[in-house]
Amino acid sequence: MKILITGGAGFIGSHLAEAYLQRGDEVYIIDDLSTGSLDNIKALQQNPQFKNRLFLTVNTILEHHNLLELTGICDVVFHLAAAVGVRYILENPLESIRTNIQGTEKVLEMCAKFKKRVLIASTSEVYGKHTHAPLVETDNIIYGPSSKFRWSYAASKLMDEFTALAYFRTRGLQVIITRLFNTVGPRQTGAYGMVIPRFVSQALRDRPLTVYGDGRQTRTFTYVKDVVEALMRLMECDGAVGEVFNVGGTEETTILELAQRVIALTGSASAVELIPYEKAFGKDFEDMQRRVPSIAKIRALIGFAPRVDFDGMLRKVIAHMRNGS
Ligand SMILES: NC(=O)c1ccc[n+]([C@@H]2O[C@H](COP(=O)([O-])OP(=O)(O)OC[C@H]3O[C@@H](n4cnc5c(N)ncnc54)[C@H](O)[C@@H]3O)[C@@H](O)[C@H]2O)c1
Repeated sequence: MKILITGGAGFIGSHLAEAYLQRGDEVYIIDDLSTGSLDNIKALQQNPQFKNRLFLTVNTILEHHNLLELTGICDVVFHLAAAVGVRYILENPLESIRTNIQGTEKVLEMCAKFKKRVLIASTSEVYGKHTHAPLVETDNIIYGPSSKFRWSYAASKLMDEFTALAYFRTRGLQVIITRLFNTVGPRQTGAYGMVIPRFVSQALRDRPLTVYGDGRQTRTFTYVKDVVEALMRLMECDGAVGEVFNVGGTEETTILELAQRVIALTGSASAVELIPYEKAFGKDFEDMQRRVPSIAKIRALIGFAPRVDFDGMLRKVIAHMRNGS
């Protein structure tokens, strides 16, 4: 099979590319390297087993010609390219909205033109300000005001979901929508606000672990290879078409507990430092206090169950970052 991965030089995209290459498929990547990097796929490009099966186009999905050609060549499309990360969104508001709304519409338009099945990476952020758990795909959605720019990411990804479902309903496009919860693993960068690589990096340098707010906000984490397996199996499942799925872990932890666990597992001399949200992100910021998925729907369809537990994924990230990669 020929697999197109938009954002394939990013964190999740590079793991997805690796899994398909290992399976013997051809992988085509389009990525503008805005938050992704060539380092993420260097080992894949240099692996003799993958020779002549990995193709990289460095360009934005907003540019028509490359996307047209690549969608035409490939059998299925994973749309992962997006402006990602709380800090990145706040610092690049207009560019982020363009990529996430216009970019996704372009990808969907091409997939409809060539009748290619497409899986969209949406996010748990779309649920907004809920405090109940677990979050179910059919839950209502609650956002803060448009002056709080952090919600632009959630709203743009929600618009992607509406657009994808509209293509499904009106054009018969085979779309699958996945709401990814915090995904963790090697190659994730802390540079754009991702909490685990940021904490591990601080712990390995014996610097204070900077926890925003009071640290009582909770998250669940999923290991990237578990997520990749779920995406691949959903893509192969006819019953997934036209549906929305949570993809996430079920072990709920506060950010304060996470910081303490990172300190324990690294053997670091770091302390924890609480930083008010406004100091970290400015006044346009609000956090989500709780984010725990129901994974009943994806479990019922493809038997999804995360294999790597919380400590297991922290150990893998620590080992990777200790090796300096
Ligand atoms: N990592 C998570 O915890 C998480 C959680 C929820 C949703 N997601 C979604 O999963 C997808 C992948 O996220 P990730 O964590 O791998 O982030 P990432 O930043 O590593 O990957 C995104 C990739 O898209 C590329 N990109 C951005 N704009 C582009 C454009 N206009 N044209 C071409 N390429 C572009 C970036 O260079 C990067 O390589 C995103 O759609 C994100 O919204 C991730």
